[in-house]
Amino acid sequence: MAQKGEVLVEVRDMCKNFGVTVALNHVNIQFKRGEIRGLIGENGSGKSTVSSIIAGIQPATSGEMFYKGKPWKPATSLEASNNGIGMIVQEAGTIPGITVAENIFLGNYKPFKKGPFVDRGKMNAAAGAALEKVGITNINPAFPTSRYDMQERKLIEIAKVMAGDPELFIVDETTTALSHSGRELLYQIMHKAADDGKAVVFISHDLAELMEHCDTLTILRDGVIIDNLEKKEFEANDIKHKMVGREVKDNYYRSDSDGYGDEVVLKADCITTMNDLLCFSLELHRGEILGIGGLSECGMHGLGRALYGLDEVVDGQVVLTKDNVVVKNAETAFRHKMGYVSKNRDQESLELNASIGANIQSVGYRKNRIFGPFISGRKCSCTVKKQATENNR
Ligand SMILES: Nc1ncnc2c1ncn2[C@@H]1O[C@H](COP(=O)(O)OP(=O)(O)O)[C@@H](O)[C@H]1O
Ligand SMILES: [Mg+2]
Repeated sequence: MAQKGEVLVEVRDMCKNFGVTVALNHVNIQFKRGEIRGLIGENGSGKSTVSSIIAGIQPATSGEMFYKGKPWKPATSLEASNNGIGMIVQEAGTIPGITVAENIFLGNYKPFKKGPFVDRGKMNAAAGAALEKVGITNINPAFPTSRYDMQERKLIEIAKVMAGDPELFIVDETTTALSHSGRELLYQIMHKAADDGKAVVFISHDLAELMEHCDTLTILRDGVIIDNLEKKEFEANDIKHKMVGREVKDNYYRSDSDGYGDEVVLKADCITTMNDLLCFSLELHRGEILGIGGLSECGMHGLGRALYGLDEVVDGQVVLTKDNVVVKNAETAFRHKMGYVSKNRDQESLELNASIGANIQSVGYRKNRIFGPFISGRKCSCTVKKQATENNR
C-alpha cells in the first residue's frame, strides 16, 4: 500500500533547451504522496516546462525521471494521463468545437464504443458523473464546449483530469481563470487528492494562495532550482527575494506614480451593452493607469471589449477625445492607436497555428501594403523584426 511521504515522481538532472534559451538547467525535484508542492518563480523561470515534461507534453533535452520508482519517459500526454499523471495546462486545455463530454473523454472513447459507434447517452452520463464528482452541477455534458466561458471551460478541464483519478495532479496557473467559488472548489479537490495519498503540484502567481495551500514550495529562477522550503519556513519576503535574486521593495513593479494631468483621452459616456453594462461612465486621463477590478462575472471584461469596439454599445458612446472619434468597432479603435490585450489571448488574440511572425504582422498589413491588396514581404519581415526586438526587453 502506498504511503504518504513516499516519493511518487522524481526528476533528476533535467535540462531543457529551446534553441539558445535554457528553460531548465540541471533540475532535481521530488514530488511526494500526501503533499501539495507549490512551484513559484517569475514568468519564464521554467515552471510550466518542467511540469509539461513530467506530463508527457514535451520531451526533456537530457536528464531522467522516475515514477513510482521506475524510469519514466512518456511519449504523449495521453500515455501520462493513462498512467495517472494529469495536468491542467496554463493555456486552454479544451477544444471548443466538440461537446463537453467529448472533451472529458477525449482519446478515451473505448468504454462507450458500440461497434463502430459511440454510445453518446452512456458517454454523456459518465461525463455528468465526472463533473458531479468534483462538485460541478451547472454544466451540460451534451452541450458544445464553446457555449461555456473561460472559467467554465477550466472547470470542465478539472473534471476531465480528475475523471482519470490521477496519482500526480498538476495545476498550472489555473486559479487566475477562476472566480472565488471556482478557486474554493479547486482547493478542495487539491486537498482531497493530497489527503488520499496522491501528490499535487500547484503553480500560481499568487504567493498568499501558495503559502496557504502548499505543504512545500520549490523556488525556480531562470530554469534553476533556488530553494525548497517546508511550510514552517515560508516567509513572503524571503520567497520574493529568492524568486528575483535580490531584495524586493514594495515598489518593485512600478515607482510611485507622478500623477496625471487633466486631459481626458478616452471617455465612456453612459454606455450600455447587451450583456454587461448599464449606463456605465468613465474618464481616462493622459498619464493615468486606471485599474478595473471585480469578481469574474462583474462585467469588467465586457467593459474592456466595449471600450475597444468589440462589444456593441447599444446606448451611450465611447469617445477618443483628441480626435473626437466615436469608437464603434475595433477597426476604428485600432486605427486611432488604441491597443487591446484580450483576457482570452489564445482564443481571441493569437492564431496559435500560425507563425509568430504572421501573428505580429497581422496588425500591420495596412502599413506594409504596396498597392491594392498586395503587401511587401520585405516590409513585413522588417516590422516583425522591429516589434520582436523592441519588445523583448
Ligand atoms: N515552446 C517553446 N519554445 C521556445 N521557448 C519556450 C517554449 N516554452 C517555453 N519556452 C521558454 O522557456 C522558458 C521557461 O518557460 P516556462 O516554463 O513557460 O516558464 P514559466 O511557466 O515559469 O513562466 C522561457 O524563457 C520561455 O520563453
Ligand atoms: Mg507557465
